[in-house]
This record gives sequence, C-alpha cells and structure tokens, in this order.
Amino acid sequence: MATSIITSVGLKSLPLVAEGKVREIYEASNDTLLLVTSDRISAYDVILENGVQDKGTVLTLLTNHWLNTVLPQHVPALKHHLVSLNIPRALDLSSEQRAILRGRSMIVRKYRVFPIEAIVRGYITGSSWSEYKQKGTVHGMPQPSGLEQCQAFPGGPIYTPSTKAPVGGKDENITPDHARQIVGDKYADKIENLALAIYKAAHGYALEKGIIVADTKFEFGLDEETDEVVLIDEVLTPDSSRFWPAADYVPGRDQKSFDKQYLRDWLTGEGLKGKEGVSMTGDVQARTSAKYLEAFQRLTGESLDQALAKLEN
Ligand SMILES: Nc1ncnc2c1ncn2[C@@H]1O[C@H](COP(=O)(O)OP(=O)(O)O)[C@@H](O)[C@H]1O
Ligand SMILES: [Mg+2]
Repeated sequence: MATSIITSVGLKSLPLVAEGKVREIYEASNDTLLLVTSDRISAYDVILENGVQDKGTVLTLLTNHWLNTVLPQHVPALKHHLVSLNIPRALDLSSEQRAILRGRSMIVRKYRVFPIEAIVRGYITGSSWSEYKQKGTVHGMPQPSGLEQCQAFPGGPIYTPSTKAPVGGKDENITPDHARQIVGDKYADKIENLALAIYKAAHGYALEKGIIVADTKFEFGLDEETDEVVLIDEVLTPDSSRFWPAADYVPGRDQKSFDKQYLRDWLTGEGLKGKEGVSMTGDVQARTSAKYLEAFQRLTGESLDQALAKLEN
C-alpha cells in the first residue's frame, strides 16, 4: 500500500499544462513534463467520485515495466519518452507533495504529439464488434464473414486508429488511410509498424502470465531534433487496454473485464450505470484495487511494494 487514495494532486508550484481524465500534466523544465497519475477511475464513461487505492501507482509502474523491461527485448528499435520515475530535487515541492507523487509520477521528454490514437486490436469486441455486425467492416476495413464476438482476428492483429479528440470530445474510429492523411506519409508506416510490433510482443508476454491483451491504444510523438517517432503516454495498462483473464476466455460472448468487472456489476445492479456523482462503497473500492494489484503482480512478477521499494525517492 502506498499513500492514501489521491483523486486530485493540484500542485501549485509548477505550471499545469493539462488535466486529463486520470492524469495531471505539469511542466518540469523546458523539454520535460511531470505526468502524475491519480487514483481516479471511470466506468461507463463516467469518473467515480472517490478513487481506487494504489491505481495510479499500478498504472505508472506497469508502464515503466513495459517500457524499460519487456519492450526493449522485443522491439529494440523503439524509442520512448520516459526519463525517470524519480522526482528531481530541483523542483520546488514539499516533502508531503513528494510522498504523494512517489510511484505515480513520470518525468518524460516532451514531444509533439501525433493527433491520433494508434489502436491495435487482436480480438473483435466493443465498438469493432458493433460495426462488424452492422456493416461487416472494422474501422471501415472489410473483414471475413462469420466472425464470432471476441474472436481473434483470423489474419492476426490489425491497426485500427482513431482521432484524438480534444479534452471532453469523443474519439472517432477511422481507417488507416485516414490516419495517414492526418500524420502524413512520412510517419504513417512507422507508427503503424511500431504499434503492431509492440502489441504482438505484449500479447505474447501477457498470455504467458494468464492475461489476454485483447486490444490497446498507443500514443506517439515526434522528436523534432532527430525526426524519430517516439512512444509516449501510458503504455499497456488496464486503462489503455482491454485485459481479459485467459482462463475464462470463451469466444461467442462478452468477456469479463480483468479490472472493472466488479465495479460495473455493482453500478448496473444498483441502477447507477452512467450516472454522475456516484461514490463506490468501501467493498467495491477494495475489490477493484485488488484486481489492479493482481494484474500488476501477474505482469511484472513482483508486488507493488517490491516495485516501490526500488524507487530512489
Ligand atoms: N511525452 C509526452 N509529450 C507530450 N504530451 C504527452 C506525452 N506523454 C503523454 N502526453 C499527453 O498527456 C496526456 C495524458 O493525460 P490523460 O489523463 O491520460 O489524458 P486523456 O484523458 O486524454 O487520456 C495525453 O493528452 C497525452 O497525449
Ligand atoms: Mg490517457
């Protein structure tokens, strides 16, 4: 267990660049950002009033595990944005603030963000399954007939980008050709090939640990000095991906969500699905936290406390 549940950090001594659904982004220096992950959680597109113990730390240290341990072995050409999990001493922060930030913060290099979400899908589910049932396509691309819900795509994982809507907007599924128009010919293939290579490596790795990464979303930035495409943002977390417990996987129906199933069932059972201003009960919080910790332990092979103990400050 790290600190108490943090739903808002609100640092006053650093310029706030943006606040997303889950993260607060501050300027740390001319060319770096401080990305702070809160314990906020959303279900059915609504953020709950209270948070989930350890969630921000799990997302941060899991991203670090993929970026620094797993992916370099499988995708050696990959460049990523993470500079350090440690908070620079030079930043003007109190010891209380440093305690809150510990384990949930990343110092990252600031890049120009490509305005698309580089989604890769290994299995047909969610919005893709809805589109396929209606039109036989996925992100506008024709698919073989007779696919079952949640089946693996027979030809292997596919690149299915979406637009990246400004804060509050809704992302739209687009074809790879449309994504090419947005990011330009020069970078389109690099983004697609990297996204597919990272997904394949992660899927194989997670499957050995009993987790199916059904799909995931990456973001990429451009290093304008070297003209390289760089992996940014959170990576392969339960928030940016669909994780399914492999032991319960049966195509032809919906799958259980690894992390949010208990919360969703509770919201539905209580008639609170999609409602604003809902607080979880202590029991729902505890069970949800336990699932995040389990995903972390399975994927990294160590407990969150073990990972936290390795941090410098
Ligand atoms: N290295 C980076 N350089 C610039 N922007 C970044 C970098 N890494 C992540 N970001 C941006 O930080 C934001 C992360 O905040 P988050 O709360 O996840 O937002 P959202 O609600 O849009 O998912 C995203 O808009 C992402 O594009
Ligand atoms: Mg995000």
